[in-house]
Amino acid sequence: MTTRKGIILAGGTGSRLWPITRGVSKQLLPVYDKPMIYYPLSALMLAGIREIAIITTPEDQAQFQRLIGDGGQWGLAFTWIIQPKPEGLAQAYLLAEDFLSGSASAMVLGDNIFFGHGLPELMAAADAQQQGGTVFGYRVSDPERYGVVAFDTQGQVQSIVEKPARPASNYAVTGLYFLDGTAPQRARAVTPSARGELEIVSVLESYLGEGALTVERMGRGYAWLDTGTHGSLLDAGNFVRTLQDRQGTQVGCPEEIAYAAGWIDAERLRAHAETYGKSRYGRYLSDLLRERAE
Ligand code: TTP
Repeated sequence: MTTRKGIILAGGTGSRLWPITRGVSKQLLPVYDKPMIYYPLSALMLAGIREIAIITTPEDQAQFQRLIGDGGQWGLAFTWIIQPKPEGLAQAYLLAEDFLSGSASAMVLGDNIFFGHGLPELMAAADAQQQGGTVFGYRVSDPERYGVVAFDTQGQVQSIVEKPARPASNYAVTGLYFLDGTAPQRARAVTPSARGELEIVSVLESYLGEGALTVERMGRGYAWLDTGTHGSLLDAGNFVRTLQDRQGTQVGCPEEIAYAAGWIDAERLRAHAETYGKSRYGRYLSDLLRERAE
């Protein structure tokens, strides 16, 4: 059982998805058959994390709460935090400082999807490291869109540069950050960048400067998808659809993860199955109950 607390950063403007996100938060949009936030939430759950702060814009918080409430239905506890303006990813640690109250954290971006056999083990290894931070490097074809890792000849991390014009490698830092309890203190020392944001890279640099940052490579057996553009949103939906249709499983199903972890019992799962009735989601939950009984 981890003592690490979770943060889902689900604010932002979503301007690359305009006009869709003029009326609804990006993280509430469907990725095939589920709201986007189910996927990053599932990632934190797979890391064994049950106490989670969800950061949203002031306008969108009520809609998120209508969807997922206080988390009790999944054996989780949500703390709701508002980010008045989207002033950067590092601001999350300032907003969540009281919630964290000195604990280590795992923060996931609300528009990031992680999938792959071994993901729980990969995150467990990051969780086990009590001091310092762990982030994940993932090979992408368009690194200039992300924070990019520069490695030295020994494969050690030299630097991380946000959206470089000339990327030093193809390894982007994914939106999943396992940081120790010093993250808020480090975030406090960050000043706004040229684009006016408190950059997460500045927090990571602070760890890196002390030799306290591990960059784990997330290999090609994993999928890391972000859903920030129309094309990537559609791609992510197709990815989920392809896997689910082929296997008859669900990607990013909080009820399933909670049930497997023993955070909800069969009675609770049955109630969820009934809520979703004859939808495919509901049938899937009923099947989980039946499989366990057989
Ligand atoms: P981005 O994709 O960098 O920003 P965005 O979602 O506002 O979209 P766009 O660039 O199209 O305007 O954000 C990554 C994730 O972090 C996303 O889930 C939104 C969230 N976010 C916040 O919650 N607060 C912030 O201040 C920022 C910058 C992002």
